[in-house]
Amino acid sequence: MTDLFAPLAFTSGHTMKNRFMLAPLTNQQSHADGLFSQEEHDWLLLRARGGFGAVMTAAAYVQNGGKGFEGQLGFDEARFDAALASLASEIKAQDSLAIAQLYHAGLRAIPGREIVGPSDDADTGGRALTTGEVEEMIEAFIVSAERARRTGFDGAELHGAHSYIFCQFLSPELNRRDDQFGGSLENRARPLRTVIDGIRERCGRDFNLGVRLSPERMQLRTGEMVDLAQQLMSEDKLDYIDMSLWDSFKEPEEDEFKGKSLVELFAALDRGNTKLGVAGQIRSGPSAQKALDQGADFVLVGRAAIAEHDFPEKVRRDPAHEMPPPPFSMDYLTAEGVSPPFLAYLDFFGFVEKADA
Ligand SMILES: Cc1cc2nc3c(=O)[nH]c(=O)nc-3n(C[C@H](O)[C@H](O)[C@H](O)COP(=O)(O)O)c2cc1C
Repeated sequence: MTDLFAPLAFTSGHTMKNRFMLAPLTNQQSHADGLFSQEEHDWLLLRARGGFGAVMTAAAYVQNGGKGFEGQLGFDEARFDAALASLASEIKAQDSLAIAQLYHAGLRAIPGREIVGPSDDADTGGRALTTGEVEEMIEAFIVSAERARRTGFDGAELHGAHSYIFCQFLSPELNRRDDQFGGSLENRARPLRTVIDGIRERCGRDFNLGVRLSPERMQLRTGEMVDLAQQLMSEDKLDYIDMSLWDSFKEPEEDEFKGKSLVELFAALDRGNTKLGVAGQIRSGPSAQKALDQGADFVLVGRAAIAEHDFPEKVRRDPAHEMPPPPFSMDYLTAEGVSPPFLAYLDFFGFVEKADA
């Protein structure tokens, strides 16, 4: 049985002091032009102080056209460097790893951006990226990882889940291309793999690199996601794979994979040196421990970390600790580092108590 508070060493040479990583959480607290704000800085730093072994930013866009949320932070301009560097150094001063989640919305870009994706898309009115544009998008991811490294981040996670750009390319339904980026799984994974290779070449092996994948739905096939995860693990270029499961302990949707939990499905792979993180419904000490007992190396905590910036510390003091149930009062959330734009977004998730309640 792995202890939730045992350190975890990655191939990059970084060590996470415990098994709790802050999940990437879009919080809409950046400035309208993508500049990282003091509010977002404070929100993340509070989680580092609360005992998270690694603190990841929200999804950050690598090209302005790939912006997917209002108030999203950008990683595409040099003028953002100072604010990012200050965040990275302060997270690290708390003995936590600083990780940037790199992202492109693709077909899910916000209004005002041209909707683009792997292929023309009737649902969104999006158009297919040209081969040259796919190459530019790949380069933008690598340049943003270089920015993360230069500004002092320990590493980056590539957002390959939730039907954003890499996930769109991985989907045989959304990706109907006939160039080197469409067709076989190998071709559909090529944008992601080319970014991984480029980051390794230009940021080195001591840069901590992870990939987030979805196992199902999102117009994906579970068998393909299992194969891709296994290939990435076998190639040994990543430090970790973050499986975004939404409910870690439920059975997969597809009949072929029923009989075990989503965690167990991916934990059964031959992962070699690549570490396995899982996200989804980790809301208590016992559920975090269960994920490790089912074979994960670490957990990513989302909503419980919004509710309690010091969730790991609370579990350390009381292994049976459970996140308090939402909704929360505005005062409570404000004390947890949530500023007004994030409050509005959290309302959508049923996190905010109604004023008259
Ligand atoms: C408010 C909110 C914002 C999120 N933003 C992101 C994001 O920027 N990137 C991402 O990969 N996942 C994002 N997610 C998904 C979380 O990282 C996490 O995987 C999910 O919430 C399940 O974990 P939980 O049950 O611990 O909340 C978000 C989830 C929530 C609730």
